[in-house]
Amino acid sequence: MTVTDDIKGRLDITEMVSRYVTLQRSGSNHKANCPFHQERTPSFYVFPDRQTWRCFGACATGGDVFSFVMKAENLEFRETLERLSQQTGVPLPRRRERVEQQNATDVNEEANKYFQRLLASERGAAARSYLARRGVSPGTVTSFELGLSPADGRSLGDHLRQSSFPPQVLEQAGLVRTADNGHQRDFFRGRLMFPIRDKQGDLAGFGARALDDSQPKYINTPRSPVFDKGRILYALHRAKDSARKQGIVIVEGYMDAIAAHEAGFTNVVASMGTALTEHQVAEVQTISRDVTMALDADVAGQQATLRSLESSWKVLQLQVAGRARGTILFRRPEMASLKIAVMPEGEDPDDLIRQSPQEWRERIEHGTPLVQYLIDSLANQYEVSTPHGKTQLVDAVLPSIYAVTAGFEQDRYFQILADRMSVTREALLSNIDRPATRRQTTSPNQVRRDPAMHEFPNLGGDPLDEFCLSLLLHYPELEPEAVDLKPEYFRHLENRMIYDQWLLARERREVLTCESIRESIGEEFQESLNILLEKEHPGIEFLSRPKAVRDCITNMKDRYLRELKKEEERVFSDSEIDMEENTFHSVLKVNQRIKENQKARETTLKVRTH
Ligand code: UTP
Ligand code: MN
Repeated sequence: MTVTDDIKGRLDITEMVSRYVTLQRSGSNHKANCPFHQERTPSFYVFPDRQTWRCFGACATGGDVFSFVMKAENLEFRETLERLSQQTGVPLPRRRERVEQQNATDVNEEANKYFQRLLASERGAAARSYLARRGVSPGTVTSFELGLSPADGRSLGDHLRQSSFPPQVLEQAGLVRTADNGHQRDFFRGRLMFPIRDKQGDLAGFGARALDDSQPKYINTPRSPVFDKGRILYALHRAKDSARKQGIVIVEGYMDAIAAHEAGFTNVVASMGTALTEHQVAEVQTISRDVTMALDADVAGQQATLRSLESSWKVLQLQVAGRARGTILFRRPEMASLKIAVMPEGEDPDDLIRQSPQEWRERIEHGTPLVQYLIDSLANQYEVSTPHGKTQLVDAVLPSIYAVTAGFEQDRYFQILADRMSVTREALLSNIDRPATRRQTTSPNQVRRDPAMHEFPNLGGDPLDEFCLSLLLHYPELEPEAVDLKPEYFRHLENRMIYDQWLLARERREVLTCESIRESIGEEFQESLNILLEKEHPGIEFLSRPKAVRDCITNMKDRYLRELKKEEERVFSDSEIDMEENTFHSVLKVNQRIKENQKARETTLKVRTH
């Protein structure tokens, strides 16, 4: 029996559904107004004997208890699995990781208490007055659980070991570093401590600020299977309730989020300085469709920021479309709105909120929709009076405009773009090649797809992702070539999700066929799966397929590592101080992995046939 079966066996679909809607009996079944679309007469049915549900109305979709929870809670399959495994007490296969995680949270909690006690003690006087100077009230210090790490480099470790936490647990949690001789040193020394809790409130790690101008300003718990900054938003567990009602606001820094909450803006979370990751976008999506990012004026127009915003935007659209597909045919998909609020020159949210909460409120309320913001910023950067500048601008913003899922919304942006270039909308449109028409002529396969959405899948398409995954799906015998392929190497959520299913099937030693994968993934991913299955690889001979997959995986890994490196560099750019040798270590490690990966690639390139 698979884990999923085990979990399903312990849940009752009728009970689960009735947590969300009121069911009426209808023969041996139950019916209700569909929770996934608006309707007056019930077309949503639950079949207790088969343990399935189906909407016969506008959704025209159905499934089991898993797909119901995914839809009802806007969760990914993995998250659903995790949640239901918790509810039923059926452990997931990755038990070891879980145990590590639990140990890390436990030891973090103990460290957290220790840091808080130290801040409140005599030795915390300087740190407390630092906080007071910055306007952080004692109440906020308590509610955000701020603390202070001992400066001597060993008190914390000593305390934790005395509290009978094993040395390797301290190491795994990133609280100490272990030298070759087994001697442990505290990782955080003499810093202001910000405990970082995940959405559920579990203590995942710490951010730690220097109390003077020493660099780096912040160090954070090192990335590990247990702590991944890219999967967490700071303060989300406190912000989620009010964010559900008021929309969510994302700032960059710990101090910004704290200032916001202190001033009563309790819907604010912090991205902790790095570009929003897909996981964070997905997380935010489950809370609210109304997302505003507060950007400092000095970074707001920078190319790197614009590029990262653009990619967050596409992820957001992809998720909305992914969910809309199959459920809300021909209806307007729920709009995902991502707005940008730029701070006044030289001020970050912390400054602004403390100076004028009213102005902060106004700036957030009047955020610019992202696509419009991209058009405006880029129009300022190119010479749009020249034909060359116009082309540059159009090329730069078109992908984002095309990613907009609602047609009328797209048209509005074409109008804005045309205005910025002082041309008519008609002139603009006649000069660009609309992908919808282009595709219809090249790909007859598309015609079968849902007409409301058929434009979308190719827009977000990622050639590497798709090449790799479609080879694996078409040729099950390639399975051994994928030993090194990690889900995170995929750029697109949907591909990653399909690959997750592929991995699960392999774990269970099931036969890897398109059909078995198809059965195990949610309705909303069938479309992506179809696209992958329609890809053909006529040019690749039987014998060269294994190498083609290996090369592709190497490239995906290289791409992933480079992205990782960029993030790490951003965080540790200034870590030239002896104290932080190990942050260096981690950058060096990624560099090393990139090099090794490149070497592997060069050797394969040499024997490449073409
Ligand atoms: P900021 O430099 O804006 O920090 O970086 P801040 O939160 O406003 O802190 P103050 O006001 O100077 O005290 C934004 C975020 O980027 C991450 C942290 O999460 C920080 O809150 N960051 C920044 C790092 O992780 N490491 C760094 O060295 C710098
Ligand atoms: Mn700041």
